[in-house]
Amino acid sequence: MKIKIGILTLSDRASDGTYEDLSGPAIKEVLDGWITSEREYVYEVIPDEFELIKERLINMSDNLKCDLILTTGGTGPALRDVTPEATEAVCEKMMPGFGELMRTASLKYVPTAILSRQTAGIRKNSLIVNLPGNPKAIRECLEPIFPAIPYCIDLIEGGYIQTDENIMKVFRPKQKKIS
Ligand code: MTE
Repeated sequence: MKIKIGILTLSDRASDGTYEDLSGPAIKEVLDGWITSEREYVYEVIPDEFELIKERLINMSDNLKCDLILTTGGTGPALRDVTPEATEAVCEKMMPGFGELMRTASLKYVPTAILSRQTAGIRKNSLIVNLPGNPKAIRECLEPIFPAIPYCIDLIEGGYIQTDENIMKVFRPKQKKIS
């Protein structure tokens, strides 16, 4: 079964063309280097608008049936940063461990890691994870959490993600048969 990954960039300036979005494409590049399963991406760049973010997350989960949705941007303390709030508003369950681990791991790179309020949660069969907006933060944050993502998606009955074990080894406490 093909897996579906949603990439949602939240940035007023990237969405109005002031600059090019580098973080959304960086997510695809990092995942393409790790995931071997057949996959399809959906990608959108939108401004930091609470209602719009909620609507696009719901669309990616309920209509497009994304197994994994990665957002980038809007996680900081600035007045327009509302990505974690919009994520929480659409999720049935929060998964605070993802944000905790990403902040801890990011401290290796920047002392401002604690300024990100990034979180993660579950809506139906989709796992939603927030990443910061800096393009270099994408790999820094995905690397520590990715080993737990495929099993999390197994548990919510999403698609089965396989990776190149030499590059990104994932952990599944129980092996699931691929049907
Ligand atoms: N985490 C990593 N790994 N690398 C980074 O460069 N930038 C930090 C933080 N987390 C950063 C990071 C900074 S400076 C801010 S303000 C917050 O993420 C929030 O970023 P955002 O509002 O673009 O989401």
